[in-house]
Amino acid sequence: MKHKSLTIQYSESETTSELEQADQLLIQEAIKSADHAYAPYSGFNVGAAIRLSNGVVVTGSNQENAAYPSGLCAERVAIFSASSMYPDEIIETIAITIKTPHHIIEPVSPCGACRQVIAEYENKQNKKIKIIFSGETGKSYTVDGIKNLLPMTFNVRNMNNG
Ligand code: THU
Repeated sequence: MKHKSLTIQYSESETTSELEQADQLLIQEAIKSADHAYAPYSGFNVGAAIRLSNGVVVTGSNQENAAYPSGLCAERVAIFSASSMYPDEIIETIAITIKTPHHIIEPVSPCGACRQVIAEYENKQNKKIKIIFSGETGKSYTVDGIKNLLPMTFNVRNMNNG
C-alpha cells in the first residue's frame, strides 16, 4: 500500500480591496442578494453571484422551507438559475457571502452538495470556475476550480470508466 496526499491551493484576502475590480463587484452583488434570502428558520442569509462569459451577473440566495430539506442553498439557486437562463454561457466566477447578526469574520465555504453541483457545471463546460467565499467583514478565500474544495470528485467519468 502506498501513502499519497493531495494538496489544495487557495488565496486569502483580508479585505475585498485586494481582489480584482470585477470580483469586488461580484461580491457586492452577492451581499445585495443575501438581503433577498428567505431564511426564517436559520436566520442565516447567504448570497451568491455568478459572472457569466457574456458579462451577465446572475444572483441567488438561500430559500428555506418548513419541510427543511425542501429548501435550497444560495449557490445552487444561483447556478441553476444561470444555467436555465443562459445554458450556453460559461460560468466564470461565483462569489458567495453571508449576512447574519453575528458579524462572522471567517469566510463560509460552500456545503458539500453545492460543491458537487459546482463540479457538475465545471465538467459540463470543461472549464474551471473561480470560487470566492467571504465572511461579513471582508476577509475572503479564492480557489481556482472546484478540485480545491472537492478533491476526488465523483463525476460522469466515474460512471463511464473513462
Ligand atoms: N446555506 C447556503 O445557502 N449555502 C451553503 O453553502 C451553506 C448553507 C444555507 C442553507 C440554509 O438555508 C442556511 O444556510 C443554514 O444552513
